[in-house]
Amino acid sequence: MEYSDDKYLVIANNIKKYFEIKTGSLISTFSNKLYVKAVDDVSIAIKKGEVVGLVGESGCGKTTLGRLLINLIKPTSGALYFNPPDEVLYKIKKGIELSKEELKVYSVYHMKKKRMREQRKHMQIVFQDPVSSLDPKYLIKDIIAEPLVSYGYRTREAYTKVAVLLEKVRLNKEVMNKFPHELSGGQRQRVAVCRALALNPQFLVLDEPTSALDVSVQAQVLNLLEDLREEFNLTMLFITHHLLVVRHIADRIIVMYLGKVVEISETSEIFKKTMHPYTISLLSAVPVPNPKVKRDRILLEGDVPSPINPPKGCNFHTRCRFAFEKCGWTSKELTEVLRSVLNPERYLELHHTKIDSIHIIDEKNITVKYSIALTDTDIENIKRILNTEKNKKVKDRALYGIREITWNGNQLFIKLHDYAEPKLININEQHQVSCLLYDDSMKEYIKDKNKEIELLHHFSEESIFTNDTNKSDTDKQKAKSTTASDQTGKRFKIRIIREIKPK
Ligand SMILES: Nc1ncnc2c1ncn2[C@@H]1O[C@H](COP(=O)(O)OP(=O)(O)OP(=O)(O)O)[C@@H](O)[C@H]1O
Ligand code: SF4
Ligand SMILES: [Mg+2]
Repeated sequence: MEYSDDKYLVIANNIKKYFEIKTGSLISTFSNKLYVKAVDDVSIAIKKGEVVGLVGESGCGKTTLGRLLINLIKPTSGALYFNPPDEVLYKIKKGIELSKEELKVYSVYHMKKKRMREQRKHMQIVFQDPVSSLDPKYLIKDIIAEPLVSYGYRTREAYTKVAVLLEKVRLNKEVMNKFPHELSGGQRQRVAVCRALALNPQFLVLDEPTSALDVSVQAQVLNLLEDLREEFNLTMLFITHHLLVVRHIADRIIVMYLGKVVEISETSEIFKKTMHPYTISLLSAVPVPNPKVKRDRILLEGDVPSPINPPKGCNFHTRCRFAFEKCGWTSKELTEVLRSVLNPERYLELHHTKIDSIHIIDEKNITVKYSIALTDTDIENIKRILNTEKNKKVKDRALYGIREITWNGNQLFIKLHDYAEPKLININEQHQVSCLLYDDSMKEYIKDKNKEIELLHHFSEESIFTNDTNKSDTDKQKAKSTTASDQTGKRFKIRIIREIKPK
């Protein structure tokens, strides 16, 4: 984990959240328990006053991480520090382990309930769906006043504060005496923001706060959040599926895949020099709104793997078109490919070599049994075919996993490469990526991959927003801002309306 000299408000150290799955088995032992690895060893640090965007596909663990960062759910392991004093921050930055006593005082997960209740005021959340997050039985004024009252405000004082807060989120005071169902989606989300701000928090988690709203309302809420950030001196974690939604609001972006952080970068940098193949596929899937602009797409293959038993090595290797020898191939993955590639009906040269069975010896060794003894020519043919398949444009990349082939009579022994697990590597001060392509110890394997790595960096900001570059400055300005009226009739600018696409 890399730190700068800045002050940090939230620091998560190696946090994990594994949800236990009910298997239906009557005898539940540790070995037969199944877990969803929703957040798997994540370390992040958010600076004071910073807005961090958290992006990734559905199910990658964004909500779980957001909830862990405000201690709404208990972690499986790890520590969370909120606004640590300088001496503790120093130790965290230097990687000096904190004592048990220090953890009880400074780690949110370790502290006593009473102390936690004090901290809770400073960390709040806005959920995706205001319909379910606002209690339909209560008036808006009571919904917003509730946290104030629970922290000691008298009801009257609380209502006065509610009226002021409503103005801040550009809602008319009249909504105080309405029920949630009497408001529009955008208004309800403003109420949710208002409630989250009631106790004047320092840290706000926004979990897809705009995705349930119409496009134009999304832009209004985003603009509002940007203004509130300054007014309330907020530090925010903004969770979204969509990289472009946070492009304007976030200072830094964190990309998650299957419970792990794969890339962290300052926002401008990540759009100019995207490094992780997964981030690139997220970006390349963004539609370019200009029919004249042609852009390659890096399509993700297959579905997101199960977080119960995630792929080994780099957990993205099953969908990564850049995956190579060390990315995590296992005997099981290779066996499926071998069955199809070594099928005698596919290659004439193999027509007499019928496979009897394929045995997985362990994660790194496979034995293929043939019905007849193999000749030198057969082995040459098999090796050549496996190589050809590996180098095809649409390749079975599991073939990269093969390290060595030997044979004896009618048996073929296939040994796989040991795999490596990528760690976050510093590209520069603002940019970290978790991919073996950038790991110096992998040079031997990726020396022929320079062209492919170049292709990765071809997806720059310009290639996504080419339509803007073809226009005059005035047109660009028009495209990026328009005006609308809010609840109180005040006119304000919608700055980013064109770049937000509905989910
Ligand atoms: N309470 C729970 N019990 C069991 N599994 C859970 C629980 N909450 C989340 N999960 C699982 O954890 C993984 C991460 O879920 P999470 O809701 O954090 O993802 P997400 O990135 O927020 O997805 P989305 O974009 O769809 O909101 C998923 O596989 C989900 O099914
Ligand atoms: S380590 Fe990098 S190249 Fe290998 S599978 Fe993962 S993302 Fe792809
Ligand atoms: Mg979610």
